[in-house]
Amino acid sequence: MINFAHRGASNYYPENTMVSLKEGIKTGANGLEIDVHKTKDNKLVVIHDEDIQRTFKGKGLVKDMTLEELRRFKCRNKNFENNIECRIPTLEEVLDLVKETNVILNIELKTDKIHYEGIERDVIELVNRHGLKKQIVLSSFNHESIRICREIDGEFETGLLYSKPIENVVQYAKEFGTNAIHPDLRLVSEELIEEANKNNIKVNIYTVNSPIYMRKLIAADVNGIFTDYPDLLNEIINEK
Ligand code: G3P
Ligand code: CA
Repeated sequence: MINFAHRGASNYYPENTMVSLKEGIKTGANGLEIDVHKTKDNKLVVIHDEDIQRTFKGKGLVKDMTLEELRRFKCRNKNFENNIECRIPTLEEVLDLVKETNVILNIELKTDKIHYEGIERDVIELVNRHGLKKQIVLSSFNHESIRICREIDGEFETGLLYSKPIENVVQYAKEFGTNAIHPDLRLVSEELIEEANKNNIKVNIYTVNSPIYMRKLIAADVNGIFTDYPDLLNEIINEK
């Protein structure tokens, strides 16, 4: 089972930073999850929101700033504001980190609110330049982005994120031609997991921070869990 440290070990460290990703790996996660946007000068960067203000001491949209401008902002978390590894990372930095490990990296393309022209091709080209295809899962709430990714390179693992029910989702995923579905925990049942497993559709579920649900999902044989507490999930996996 894949223990995806969601935005890194984000319960403990500033989300989507090199510190939280490295700590995710240290806690024993065998997966990482990150969110990707594109800057004004077409660089791929790792941050959850379109607007930097919630996580950094600054204001504005990623798409309106250059990488150099974005790098100047300190993270909002007071305990880490002077830590240079808590500035906004590039996707390339994260790929360099992942390359040294066996972890699976889920790259979420954040294209549901703003569509960054060509982001799918940019991500795929960068991953392929690093020779990391086999360690990557591409996902998005914007299924059109996943369709584009599959057209560019059908060898990538892809996951369809969803936060509202999709009728007959396993059938939908099969017809779409994806490898995985990434549902919100609230939309998951044992029956869904069983049906997906029978149809070779992997189920990776977000965001699971409760030990009760972690145990239930492991027992139901899910493929992966996204959690802000990768240490806790690791403990639970190792209980058996
Ligand atoms: O990829 C799973 C999860 O990260 C999706 O939701 O809002 O945390 O990006 P969000
Ligand atoms: Ca995400």
